[in-house]
Amino acid sequence: MKFFVDTADTAAIKELNDLGMVDGVTTNPSLILKSGRDIIEVTKEICDMVSGPVSAEVVATEAKEMIAEGMKLAKIAPNIAIKVPLNWDGLTACKAFASEGHKVNVTLCFSAAQAILAAKAGASFISPFIGRIDDIHYDGTDLIEDIRIIYDNYSFSTEILAASIRSVNHVIDCAKIGADVVTAPPSVIKSMANHVLTDKGLEQFLKDWAKTGQKIL
Ligand code: E4P
Repeated sequence: MKFFVDTADTAAIKELNDLGMVDGVTTNPSLILKSGRDIIEVTKEICDMVSGPVSAEVVATEAKEMIAEGMKLAKIAPNIAIKVPLNWDGLTACKAFASEGHKVNVTLCFSAAQAILAAKAGASFISPFIGRIDDIHYDGTDLIEDIRIIYDNYSFSTEILAASIRSVNHVIDCAKIGADVVTAPPSVIKSMANHVLTDKGLEQFLKDWAKTGQKIL
């Protein structure tokens, strides 16, 4: 399973990347806003740091303009994945980018039907947003399961990039289902290391060690 970091915070990306935890990065207009940085400048910095795909999202609403924006974003670095929304214009742009050999991440996917269209349009990644589905009281992981079955039935090469990850359990569920990639905020990735029994066990070991009166260094 590949780990992408869902942020445009370069310090957070660097910390995880230095530990070998980062296979790629996803950004979106909201994350660019949160970073307070210029999209071209921050995306370039991320691409220089990370060797895997870095998703940069178009903001135009019509295919022709999306294609122009995507071509500009693709020039930032060879590891750019152009991110387009899952609507007809986005699929049109996806096909154009894929035909030119660019990686495309089709985002804002909320149904298996949409995921089929993205695969047919040549998407490298499909991004189903599981947290936002949970937010409206459905089970987002059901969608990942459905897409996994469909893509496997037809050997579609589009990778399932589980997005809108809000918890450690989301990551585990996606791993069990067989999502190819999970993109999660740095806080979720870091909290995967936490366990109450680890803390409790360590506390006891340190207490007992203190009683030995010994030192290692
Ligand atoms: C993925 O590419 C999106 O940037 C992201 O996962 C959306 O997450 P959110 O629903 O928590 O905003």
